[in-house]
Amino acid sequence: MSTRTGIEESVAPPPEGTPWTVLHLVRWSAVYLAGKGVPDPRLDAEHLLGDVLGMSRLGLYLQYDRPLTQAELEGFRVRIRERARRKPLQYVLGRAPFRDLELEVDPRVLIPRPETETLVEEVLVWVEGRGMEALAGLDVGTGSGAIALALALEGGFGKVVATDTSEDALSVARGNAARLRADEVEFRLGSLLTPVGEGERFDVLVSNPPYVRREEYGDLAPEVREWEPEAALVSGDRGVELLDQLVAGGPRVLAPGGLLALEVGEGQAKAVAEMIRGTGAFGEPRIRKDLAGRDRIVLATRDRDSRSTNWEGR
Ligand SMILES: C[S@@+](CC[C@H](N)C(=O)[O-])C[C@H]1O[C@@H](n2cnc3c(N)ncnc32)[C@H](O)[C@@H]1O
Repeated sequence: MSTRTGIEESVAPPPEGTPWTVLHLVRWSAVYLAGKGVPDPRLDAEHLLGDVLGMSRLGLYLQYDRPLTQAELEGFRVRIRERARRKPLQYVLGRAPFRDLELEVDPRVLIPRPETETLVEEVLVWVEGRGMEALAGLDVGTGSGAIALALALEGGFGKVVATDTSEDALSVARGNAARLRADEVEFRLGSLLTPVGEGERFDVLVSNPPYVRREEYGDLAPEVREWEPEAALVSGDRGVELLDQLVAGGPRVLAPGGLLALEVGEGQAKAVAEMIRGTGAFGEPRIRKDLAGRDRIVLATRDRDSRSTNWEGR
């Protein structure tokens, strides 16, 4: 019998001596994962079986009565057990899509999110509108390298500096850059804007920094709380601490007319826009929505008038 979610309440294993088929295994494991509280159990079961068989999800349904070998079954069992422990699907697969790229990910880095794809989209629209070429970009808190690599490979940036405080994250990001042959991206270890040299200027400063309030952390889904790096998520008691510092230091590293593009948490956009106004160094900030219609991106361009001094030169 099916429940409201479309997941059956129980699926019996095949009779003794009869092999598991693709469809039977997907149905059985969807019920199993649902019982473990996994949010999209059927979809995840399909991704995991597709991974074992080297097939797309559509491919599975074109061969729904294909029997599985013992080796395939064992490979699937390992993956399903991991997912049942609420390890995120992308970590089990070892990869995550980001715009046109496929990035290798593991628990050393945050899994790139769709709202960050929108952040990159906003940057690329801004660049295109100005017909600018061979730009210099700075991605603070690069994690898997998602933003920096998209700017280099999709946006045609001539140089991208990608920073992080986590040596582990940088090692994953460097691996992604090497695999995708993104030679334009240079990785630097360090906090916020400290890895930027004296007098170094960028056309774009983009960041998806940690912005979760410390007290919110315990409420996050097990996939996030138990598997993703806490240092990639939590900023402090207010959530906007790191955003605040990026806004304050932005004018020092941005070329006149350069773009500041920040991803922010739900409910933070207005406060971040206010911080930007408070510097007196930017034009009027613009707030953009993510695909779910929430205000999640704040953009502002650095004044061309280099006499703007109402900012902390961090
Ligand atoms: C929310 S994740 C974003 C990762 C990646 N940019 C993305 O969008 O998928 C934030 C990243 O910032 C890094 N980070 C945390 N504190 C930092 C700091 N003070 N300076 C630079 N990076 C920091 C974390 O290690 C993590 O990789």
